[in-house]
Amino acid sequence: MPTQVAVAGATGAVGIPIVSELLKAGHLVTALSRSRNNCSAKLPEHPHLSIAEVDYDSVASLTAALHGHAIAIAALPVTTPVGSQDTLIDAAVAAGVIRFFPAEFGTDTNNDKCMKLPVFANKVHAIAYLKDKVAKHPNFSYTALCTGSFLDWGLAAGFLVHPKMHTATIYDDGNLPFSTTTLSTVSKAVVSIIDHLEETKNRHVYIHDAVVTQNKLIELTKTIDGKDWQLTYVDSAVASAEAHLEFLKPNADITKGLMPLLHISVLGKGYGGDFTSRLDNELLSIEEMDDEKLREVIARFL
Ligand SMILES: NC(=O)c1ccc[n+]([C@@H]2O[C@H](COP(=O)([O-])OP(=O)(O)OC[C@H]3O[C@@H](n4cnc5c(N)ncnc54)[C@H](OP(=O)(O)O)[C@@H]3O)[C@@H](O)[C@H]2O)c1
Repeated sequence: MPTQVAVAGATGAVGIPIVSELLKAGHLVTALSRSRNNCSAKLPEHPHLSIAEVDYDSVASLTAALHGHAIAIAALPVTTPVGSQDTLIDAAVAAGVIRFFPAEFGTDTNNDKCMKLPVFANKVHAIAYLKDKVAKHPNFSYTALCTGSFLDWGLAAGFLVHPKMHTATIYDDGNLPFSTTTLSTVSKAVVSIIDHLEETKNRHVYIHDAVVTQNKLIELTKTIDGKDWQLTYVDSAVASAEAHLEFLKPNADITKGLMPLLHISVLGKGYGGDFTSRLDNELLSIEEMDDEKLREVIARFL
C-alpha cells in the first residue's frame, strides 16, 4: 500500500538511497530540501517523487511541506551543521505525521557510553524530545534505526579501513567486533519498518549486514588482491581523551576531534557497536552477509 513519505536531507549520503528504495517500493515520496534546483539535480525524475523547498528554521515552512505525509525521515547531518531536529519534529507533530525517523543511522545512541560522547549530543537530545512528544501525542511515534557504521561508505571514505590505499588506523588490536551495514540494506530496512510500524514503534531498531573487525576487513581484502597494508596503531583510550579535548575547542579541528570520536563510537570498547544480541534483522527480513558477500562489497572499493 503506497504511503506518503517525506525525506528531509534527501540529497545526502543516506537520503539518496532511501528515496530510491522508497520509490522502488511504490511509495509516494517528497524530498525536503533547502534548494529545489540542487535537489532536482541530485535526485532522478520519478512520477512519484516531488520536491518541497523548506526552511529548516521555520516550523510553519516544514509543517506545510509535511502536511498529508504519514512518515517523515530525517536524513540530516546532525553531527555537525544542522544540530537540532526540534523544528522538524514539531512540524511533524503539527502536520499529523504518524512515524518519525530521527537522524540516527549509526551507532547505538541507547548505549550509556555512546550517549555520553559529545558528538552525539544532538541525536540524544532528539530521542528525549521525541519521547516527550509521543507521550503527549498518542498518534505520533518514532523509530530510531541503528545500523552501525556504513560498510560501503566506510570503505570508500577510508573510515573503517582504506582498501584502495591499503592503509588503516587500527584502534587497539583491531579485533573489536562491530556491526556494519551497506546503504542499500539501510534503505531496505527503512522500507521494511514502514511495513512493520507496530513492531517498531517508539524504540531503537537494530540491523546489520555483518559483524566484522578491522583486522577481518583487511584479511578479506588480502584474499582478493594479496597486497600488503600500511597500518598505524592507536590506543583508543588515549585517542578518546585527546579527541574530547579537541572537540570542546571553539574552532576544533574535525580530523582531531569529531572524526576520532566517531571512530571511538564504532571501534572503542563498551560502546555497544556489536548489535548481535538485539538484532531486528529477522523482523525486517534482512539476511546477514557471509564472507563471500563481504568480499564482493570490498572488491567495489579496490
Ligand atoms: N553510520 C555511518 O557510518 C554514517 C555515515 C554518515 C552519516 N550517518 C548518519 O546519517 C544521517 C545523515 O547524514 P548524511 O551524511 O547522509 O548527511 P549529509 O549527506 O551530510 O547531508 C544530508 C542533506 O542534509 C541537507 N541539509 C540541511 N541542512 C543542512 C546544513 N546546514 N548543512 C548541510 N546539509 C544540510 C542537505 O540537503 P539540501 O541541500 O538538499 O537541503 C544535505 O544534502 C546522520 O544521522 C548521520 O549521523 C551515518
